[in-house]
Amino acid sequence: MATQPPGNVPIPYGHQCIGDDDIEAVVKVLRGDWLTQGPSVTDFEGALSRTLGASHALAMNSGTAVLHAGMAALGITEGDVVVVPPITFVASANAALYCGADVAFVDVEADTGLISVKALGEFLRSDPRRAKVRAVVAVHYAGMPCDIGELAALCAQNGIALIEDACHAPGATWTDSSGTLHTIGDGSLSAFTALSFHPVKHVTTAEGGALLTNDAALAERAAMFRSHGVTRRDDLLQAHDGPWYYEQHTLGFNYRMPDVLAALGTSQLAKHRGWLERRREVARVYREQLAGISTLELQAERPGRNHAYHLFPVLVQNRAAVFDELVRRGIRPQVHYIPVHRQPYYRSRYGDISMPSAESWYARELSIPMFQGITDDQVAYVCDTVRAVVCG
Ligand SMILES: Cc1ncc(COP(=O)(O)O)c(C=O)c1O
Repeated sequence: MATQPPGNVPIPYGHQCIGDDDIEAVVKVLRGDWLTQGPSVTDFEGALSRTLGASHALAMNSGTAVLHAGMAALGITEGDVVVVPPITFVASANAALYCGADVAFVDVEADTGLISVKALGEFLRSDPRRAKVRAVVAVHYAGMPCDIGELAALCAQNGIALIEDACHAPGATWTDSSGTLHTIGDGSLSAFTALSFHPVKHVTTAEGGALLTNDAALAERAAMFRSHGVTRRDDLLQAHDGPWYYEQHTLGFNYRMPDVLAALGTSQLAKHRGWLERRREVARVYREQLAGISTLELQAERPGRNHAYHLFPVLVQNRAAVFDELVRRGIRPQVHYIPVHRQPYYRSRYGDISMPSAESWYARELSIPMFQGITDDQVAYVCDTVRAVVCG
């Protein structure tokens, strides 16, 4: 069996896929008049709305900016609590802190790494902080949709907003109890959905993100937040000094996406469907080839939920040794995630919290290579190598 990857080129856990068409799209904008937020951002937003089904899409300069702007637009503020699962990137939680709110962690399911509806229900029934909860962040971890129907029902019963962190999940779908198919991002049951266009994500703009929502008022507030809290809308202005005139009505940030990067996003998004199919094909091979190994567990699947496979997590014993051996054999895995409540910053804020399923997930998790550009030979090498290493 080979002990180095095809062509001796290390295989990363994720990688962007940039074609000549993407480069040409960017160069065309660079040769034009408009570099910062302008017509290419409007085009990208239109393409996102059409592709994912929400009536409003706002491109911003990161997924983190989107989470912050969306939470601010929901009015989340000091004294509020936002529920976040610990198996996520720190940004999902940090956005609540930016708004002056507190974070409450709710544990994940042991077999998927997704927020546990049962644990959330218990929290909302009995935790002393429950009256302060304003929103729940459903992180579609690795690209697998959370139980949106159940989460939305719990949020509605408790009068709180559901936020979807879909940074891993553009293209994922779920079927509701009446059999209707939903695309993640269609916003049918949540206040807003956040996407990221970081290079390892499905579609990249180098750095970037988008807020998707069906709530026109929320979109308007988030759009102002994205650009200093400033508006030029005639119907909102308190005075009309002339064509140059604008007013700042709230405190916002500069979270705008440049046109240069939006052009890259539109070009990438046009290829998204095919790339998603490739990711699902790679996942099918992994699931087939890595099934039945007693020392390796796959992320559980759930009926009616169609994974977008940003990541392919596996759970192994002796994770550190497996990680090192894979690196030695030319595979560059990653670990997703160090539970947020265990980060020194969060420990200094909230003390030592016990989240048994999240900690057990972290102790065993490895993300093996998953990206649209991976070749069949590389996939076969990953399967053989992972199998050989975990079987010792
Ligand atoms: C689950 C999740 N949420 C939020 C973010 C933040 O996105 P960005 O890096 O675009 O700010 C990321 C990005 O890594 C993420 O994976």
